[in-house]
Amino acid sequence: MDKKSWLFALGGLLLLTTVGLSILGNYTSNWAMYQQKYFQAQINTLQAQLKTTSHGQARAKLEQQITQWQNRKPQIVNLVLPNGQVERCQTCHMGLEEISTSHPPDTFGCTVCHGGNGLSLDLKTAHADWYGQGHPGRLSVAGLTCGGTGPNGQTCHSGNKVQAQNEVDLVKTSLMSTKAGELSFVRRMLGLDPGTKVPNLALGEPASQYPNPLNGGPRQAALQTNCLSQCHQAGGLLPLLQKGKTEIPSNGCENCHVLSNPDHTYVGQDVTISRTEAGLGMVHQLTTQIPYTQCNQCHNQGLHDPIKMKFTPRVDLQQVVKDRQTGNKTWSARVKDYYLPGELFAKCEVSLDCIDCHTREDVMGDGHMYTSEYAAVHIQCQDCHGTINSLPLSKKVRSTSDLAFEEGIANPNFPALVVGDTIGLTHQGEELPYVRQKGQTRYIVSRITGTKYTIPMVKGSACRQKLTEQGADACHACHQAVSEQAH
Ligand code: HEC
Ligand code: HEC
Ligand code: HEC
Ligand code: HEC
Ligand code: HEC
Ligand code: HEC
Ligand code: HEC
Repeated sequence: MDKKSWLFALGGLLLLTTVGLSILGNYTSNWAMYQQKYFQAQINTLQAQLKTTSHGQARAKLEQQITQWQNRKPQIVNLVLPNGQVERCQTCHMGLEEISTSHPPDTFGCTVCHGGNGLSLDLKTAHADWYGQGHPGRLSVAGLTCGGTGPNGQTCHSGNKVQAQNEVDLVKTSLMSTKAGELSFVRRMLGLDPGTKVPNLALGEPASQYPNPLNGGPRQAALQTNCLSQCHQAGGLLPLLQKGKTEIPSNGCENCHVLSNPDHTYVGQDVTISRTEAGLGMVHQLTTQIPYTQCNQCHNQGLHDPIKMKFTPRVDLQQVVKDRQTGNKTWSARVKDYYLPGELFAKCEVSLDCIDCHTREDVMGDGHMYTSEYAAVHIQCQDCHGTINSLPLSKKVRSTSDLAFEEGIANPNFPALVVGDTIGLTHQGEELPYVRQKGQTRYIVSRITGTKYTIPMVKGSACRQKLTEQGADACHACHQAVSEQAH
């Protein structure tokens, strides 16, 4: 090599180093920038507090905290899991809420649910190959996420001996996932099937994978556009809650277990997450305390016309959305929003929340593929009220391994339970662990509000029901707490 070539090579090397360094610079400043944004958010909050604080000592403390944040230097966050694996997601996602007390980040980490590349500090590669585009609850990936194996090697919500603990497998069979009720209903309405069969329904596959059930029938296009694509295929979209807002995808387990506001926007502490983009829950938190407003993202939104293949939102939808934002506490406030105007219901169908009545198997399936709501719903009015001839069923809890104990996990409203207590039981043998019997009295504690209600018994009352007519429609003929057409 002559002198000139050496110089040339040296120049090339220099150039490479400069480019390399500047890439590295960008790459480092990226995560550091998110951290600085987070520090600034803390400073802003503290400064706002300072403005409204007059007490000398309190002010000094706030000022000290502000200085601490101002002096803080960005640092890579290495989360070391018990199995030795290192994850750095929190380097950018600072301040993100703990997902739940049953999934503490220092044992679970992030990638067990999200996938992605835990060591990367670069936006693109960190999120590469993540599950469900950031939504691990989607049924198409739930087998890998919720149904996967924890970092300690323990099976999660699939593959367990006790069927009730395999929520991932059960939920996929639930009518809410298969939509088999609607699909078979539409086919029957159009005279395509005499029975309740749904062609091509396959166990364990999300509804988005079923072909349109009209098989080239005249209304196939309308069913696809107005009903299936918009809402009724898993992987489809949730209905519009606010006029003028774009629809957002349905996200499987998250639809129930991550509470959302009507806008479906994030309001938590993680500064990397947009506050205006629709599609996320309010905070990074799983819950089993699911209020009726969450169920009513899909239910009680309006009228479906399966002949015209048309959906019409309820007329008072905007008021319902407004009430939801302010939060309803009283029965008279709830009753306006709970069901569609003009619908019939008994008083308890509003004072209680949906999941105070609808059991685990009602909401997450029982492993059977039903093709109608009538067959899928287990709970009946008589499961709480009994009939003119008999009291509702109950059972004595005999050991601490009873499922009833599990249903209380992470719900502060679960009434204290000890072996020997008597809990409610449905006619199908499913436990109602929030229903308790003490002597002759039965009561229920709402999982959502924590309110304790005594349950009135039909037996011994002046009720004029017929023993053979136990469906809700029959009861509503006499028992109606009519919704004032209030708005
Ligand atoms: C370099 C910084 C950075 C790293 C490292 C990082 N993220 Fe993110 N993440 C972001 C930013 C910025 C957003 C919001 C904008 C976007 O999605 O591009 C985001 C968004 C997300 C979202 C929300 C997606 C949505 O639907 O809006 C999830 C989930 C997420 N990240 C998970 C992770 C996980 C898990 C890891 C670790 C494997 C990780 N992130 C590592 C910066 C990062
Ligand atoms: C993402 C939308 C969505 C959410 C959220 C939702 N549901 Fe549903 N649900 C449906 C659809 C759609 C059906 C009807 C399916 C069919 O008939 O094919 C249904 C059916 C039902 C049924 C009758 C069938 C069955 O499986 O028992 C009950 C009961 C029910 N839902 C209760 C609830 C409760 C309680 C909640 C809140 C914890 C809830 N739903 C949340 C969409 C939803
Ligand atoms: C339609 C609403 C809905 C959907 C969708 C849903 N769940 Fe649930 N889930 C509930 C309700 C309500 C409870 C509380 C029921 C109870 O404890 O009786 C619950 C409870 C649980 C529990 C706690 C165990 C227990 O006995 O209380 C786990 C774990 C769980 N769900 C996992 C999942 C997984 C995983 C998915 C998705 C594959 C999912 N859920 C989808 C409504 C739902
Ligand atoms: C038990 C499972 C689980 C674990 C563990 C978990 N996440 Fe999540 N994460 C979810 C679910 C489910 C969502 C979707 C929530 C929604 O619909 O908004 C989510 C959403 C997010 C989002 C979007 C913001 C939001 O709240 O929706 C970010 C960012 C995120 N996760 C990052 C992380 C990081 C970082 C970790 C580790 C510290 C982590 N997650 C651990 C389940 C988990
Ligand atoms: C007081 C108890 C109670 C409450 C609260 C309640 N339900 Fe029900 N629900 C029932 C019973 C009982 C049935 C079965 C009706 C029958 O026997 O004909 C039922 C039936 C249903 C059905 C099947 C279709 C139908 O209308 O028969 C759906 C869907 C449903 N409920 C959803 C919900 C949702 C969503 C909520 C909350 C917004 C809710 N329920 C609140 C007791 C309740
Ligand atoms: C999970 C238990 C539960 C189920 C299921 C249930 N109820 Fe109730 N019911 C209650 C409780 C608790 C009360 C008392 C509190 C209240 O009225 O708000 C009550 C009160 C009543 C009352 C007397 C209150 C009044 O003045 O109207 C009637 C009538 C009634 N329920 C009818 C029904 C009908 C009809 C169904 C089926 C659609 C039903 N219940 C399902 C728990 C239940
Ligand atoms: C033909 C009318 C009629 C039908 C149908 C009917 N009830 Fe009643 N029910 C009554 C009357 C009247 C009373 C007594 C009201 C009172 O004491 O204030 C009553 C009382 C009750 C009570 C006790 C309320 C209390 O406060 O002590 C319950 C619970 C009840 N009914 C549930 C039901 C259920 C569940 C059904 C459907 C399976 C049903 N009823 C069907 C007329 C009817």
